[in-house]
This record gives sequence, C-alpha cells and structure tokens, in this order.
Amino acid sequence: MKRDFIDTNDFTKEEILDIAELSLAIKRSIRAGYYPQFMKDMTLAMIFQQSSTRTRVSFETAMSQMGGHAQYLGPGMIQLGGHETIGDTGRVLSYLVDIVMARVIEHKTVVELAEACSVPVLNGMSDYNHPTQEIGDLCTILENLPRGKRLEDCKVVFVGDGTQVCASLGFLTTKLGMHFVHYGPRGHQLGEEHKRIMEENCRVSGGTFEVTDKRDSVRGADFIYTDVWYGLYENEMPKEERVRVFHDYQVNRELMELGNIGCKFMHCLPATRGEDVTDEVLDSDASLCWEEAGNRLTAMRGLLVYLTHDRKKPSGVVLAAAKEELDAFMEARIDKKKKSE
Ligand code: CP
Repeated sequence: MKRDFIDTNDFTKEEILDIAELSLAIKRSIRAGYYPQFMKDMTLAMIFQQSSTRTRVSFETAMSQMGGHAQYLGPGMIQLGGHETIGDTGRVLSYLVDIVMARVIEHKTVVELAEACSVPVLNGMSDYNHPTQEIGDLCTILENLPRGKRLEDCKVVFVGDGTQVCASLGFLTTKLGMHFVHYGPRGHQLGEEHKRIMEENCRVSGGTFEVTDKRDSVRGADFIYTDVWYGLYENEMPKEERVRVFHDYQVNRELMELGNIGCKFMHCLPATRGEDVTDEVLDSDASLCWEEAGNRLTAMRGLLVYLTHDRKKPSGVVLAAAKEELDAFMEARIDKKKKSE
C-alpha cells in the first residue's frame, strides 16, 4: 500500500528515525562519491502554489542525483482546482508520474491530492505544517547533538511567530521525546489543537512542551530556532506592526546567551536579517542554518527513497522478455516499411 508524507504525526518515532538514518546514510554515500540510483527512471511532479528556493531546488537535485527526473509545476501552470478538481488532477498525475510533491496554500489541498493519488504524495509545506523541513532539521540536530546528550535530553526553543514551521518542530520534537518550548507573544502562539497533539505525543514519548511568553523559558536551550515574523506570504503584516508585536522575540546575542553553553541557532530560512534574527547570530559559529538548508537535500533524498523503495521491480527474466518482444516488433515494422517502398 502506498504511503504519503503529509504530517510527521502519521509516523511513529521509530519510522521518523528510520527516515533520518536513511537520509544520512545516502548523504554519507554521496559524500564519498557514490550516487545510488534509487530513483532511476522515476519522475517526480513538483506542484508549487507558492514560491520556494530550498524545497524546489533540493527535490529537483535529489531526483537528478539518484537517476530520476523532476517536473516543476509552478503557480498557475497546471489545472489544480481551477478548471479541474484537485481529485481529478491527482488521478491523472498517478498515471503520468511515480511520486508527487505539493506546496500548497491550504492544507486541505494536499490532503485531497493524497487521497486521490495512487502514487505517494509529499507535503512541501502548507498553511498548517512543513514536515519535509523537519526531517532535514532532525538530520541537522542528530549531526550536532551536544556532547554526551541523546535526542531525548535536548531542549529545543522556537522563538517568535507560531508559524507552520513552529508547529511542525513542536510535533517532531514531542514525538521524539525531546523538550520543546514555543516562546512567542500572545495571539501568535501555537493553539489548542497544536497543544492537544503535542500532549498526546509527549504521553507516548516522555517528552515535554511549553507554550509561553516568558523569556525565562529560553534558559537551558540546546537549540534556539526561529522563522520569519509573517508566516504565509499572503498574510504578511505591515513592517511597523510586526516589529511592534515581535521586537522582544528577535534572536540576538542576548537571547542566545540564555541558552546552554554551546547552544546552536537554527532557522528554516528565508530569514529577514535585522528582524527575526541579527546578522551577528545568523553568521556566527553557533548558526547551523546553512548546513540545515543543505540537509533539506539530505532529507528529500531519504524521503523519496523511503516512499518508493518497496516498489516492485520486474525480474531480469521479465525485462529480457519485454526487450525481446519490443525488438521483434520494431524489426517487423522496418520490414513492413521496406516492402511498402
Ligand atoms: N525553508 C523553506 O521551505 O524554504 P523555501 O520556502 O525556499 O522552500
């Protein structure tokens, strides 16, 4: 049965760690110069209802590095919910490609698409969550664990607006038994439904979470994470308004000093320098955001392989028979053409 990647909450802790380990194993292999052709002859349809740098480039690179091909279907380029229902688009794509990724404005679009597609569908970000970002973030955290600490010992503090990345980070860390804090202003914090999900995750995993506007909650952080202050591009607040609401939540040197010694800074990017984070922090040795962006590629490779690796491959005998039949057909065609000349 096909599996989609719409929400990390659809996966167990073990499955999420398995995806991260697979991603890191492929990364090591490619670093050593061996490019496994796991996506050979496969095509990925990449639907984007919004702009993207990291998600688009990393998916496309992942496909070409592993022998496959990616088609960019940008805003307004296909009939998705316009002249054609989302369901009909999904059914058609299932006949044309092997796997689908969609960055959508509304979460229900990617859910509907996944229901209609008979091939796996990945959520490349919606107004609700950003799960592929989180697999890359997990790879980055695993590669930068504080000395002597396990994942379950780490405290991750998200600072600022309760964006879809904030929600996804909360879902992931609580699923893995980590300690998550959302430090953000009232009115821009994760909501009751997010808290219910994180509570359930913590009940199973032993993790903890807190949603607060208390600055003290940042103390003891191993990782401080932030995102832009305006969430989805369509909902962008005027600059004066967002600076008024969020100015206490800028990640700067003073805020980083509340974290543990060796505390690392993370950002999904793009960053608005001088707003959500200062240049000093973004460009510091504590900043993981560049390798985090690189790990989007790490995660995309792992996810693509995870969702397609059990696809049944034809045996050598079947392939040889298919080739023989096609060769005979082509030869007969040439003979027929010659006779008619
Ligand atoms: N972090 C992220 O998703 O970046 P893009 O919007 O550039 O894809």
